[in-house]
Amino acid sequence: MKLTEGMRKELRVTVDYTNMTDKYLGDKGFSKKEIDGVRRTAKAAHAFVTERRGRDDLYMGWTELPYDQAEVVADILATAKLVRKKFDAFVVLGIGGSALGPSMAFSALCHLHYNDLPRSKRKGPKFYVEDNVDPVRMKELLDVIDVRRTCFNVISKSGATSETMAQYLIVSDLLAKAGVSLKENLIFTTDASRGNLVKISKELGGVKSYVLPGGVGGRFSELSPVGLLPAAVLGIDIKAMLKGAAYMDKLCRSSDLRKNPALMCASLQYLAMQSGKNIGVLMPYSDNLRYVSDWYAQLWAESLGKNVRLDGTPCHVGQTPVKSLGVTDQHSQVQLYTEGPFDKVVTFLSVGSYKEKTPIPHGCANIPDVAFLGGHTMEELIRAENKATAYALTKAGRLNYTIHLPAVNEFTFGQLLFLFELQTAYAGAMFNIDAFNQPGVEAGKKATFALLGKPGYELQRRDLDNAAPDPEYII
Ligand code: PA5
Repeated sequence: MKLTEGMRKELRVTVDYTNMTDKYLGDKGFSKKEIDGVRRTAKAAHAFVTERRGRDDLYMGWTELPYDQAEVVADILATAKLVRKKFDAFVVLGIGGSALGPSMAFSALCHLHYNDLPRSKRKGPKFYVEDNVDPVRMKELLDVIDVRRTCFNVISKSGATSETMAQYLIVSDLLAKAGVSLKENLIFTTDASRGNLVKISKELGGVKSYVLPGGVGGRFSELSPVGLLPAAVLGIDIKAMLKGAAYMDKLCRSSDLRKNPALMCASLQYLAMQSGKNIGVLMPYSDNLRYVSDWYAQLWAESLGKNVRLDGTPCHVGQTPVKSLGVTDQHSQVQLYTEGPFDKVVTFLSVGSYKEKTPIPHGCANIPDVAFLGGHTMEELIRAENKATAYALTKAGRLNYTIHLPAVNEFTFGQLLFLFELQTAYAGAMFNIDAFNQPGVEAGKKATFALLGKPGYELQRRDLDNAAPDPEYII
């Protein structure tokens, strides 16, 4: 994608926060004074994040991903070309931060029925992201792929995640039984030097591997090889994605929240959380963007859900992310958002120009209730419903704001991701918590190790056995 300065401006992702203010929300919205009141905290958060940019030891390496990957991008593009030639299917084995990004990019930037298209109409092999250990899902994936003609991208920073490694064991066993040299059908994305995938690669005589840089946590990894390799295999323009991220980074350089969209979003959410709005709904009006909500849910929940501040004092912060899809969920959730408790902020993702317009033909001339739709397009309809829902929420005094994408493409997608990542880092700094660790996830991982008999977890196993359900409470 060649991008002139004019195109960049036209494709700029913007934030409209009018409906967070008292302009239309009256006393339910934030006044200029309230927004100005958070300016100092926002400025300090901006300084905190800026000073730590690129620091691997602080898990801030992700800020430099748009800039420091020329070599790895070239390598990924070459590998993707080979994969496209050689394989019928590409399967990502990973979970959490190692899977949500690839799923989101697939859905955002590929045909919505990509796998059902004939090969001639697909840019790459069929694509699957296996991010669960549901035994049925695994078995049924194996029913539709030929392992010999499938490339498995095992993505795990630690190489110790039970889910991913169980999948690896199943797949490598099948490949071996099919007489395939494992090296041919595997690509690893993992830590540079630590972890079990590094050991396995050595044992297998060197599996093609990409590095998940040390300073990039799972949920901030979509712009690293974790997301770039699967995207490139799908024919997505990864360079344009990175350019989009760099563009948003540039738009967010100011320490003044009124000139920095990510800082404004973080500040509005911070203000909202301070006033008890502990639920954050993300509602894209686009099927392409629906899995952005899944990715964002992890980013926002794992980063902000913390019980201790950086100074060691206890706290319980965080906002529960809710995934919603416009217009579909207007018919299931919007009743609650409009009339239920005042405990939410709704963030809309709106789209200016959809890839398809899909005209609605004239018809039912004698039934005006239906006939009025004829002559419009589905694009007009979805945009009208987006506007109408924001209007209805605002009339009901509900906080909402809109992140607007002029179109859904690699450049705007990259901008959106970086906006959310910066917003999350700023919000973490505003709450004075570590936005980059996840001790709560680690606890569950360790308990699973204990339950399945991993050596070294015997004590925890005993504790778990003692906490077995009491029959008295089972009805
Ligand atoms: O954000 C995170 O760090 C987690 O969601 C991890 O990505 C997830 O637990 C998978 O970990 P790993 O990549 O080590 O297999």
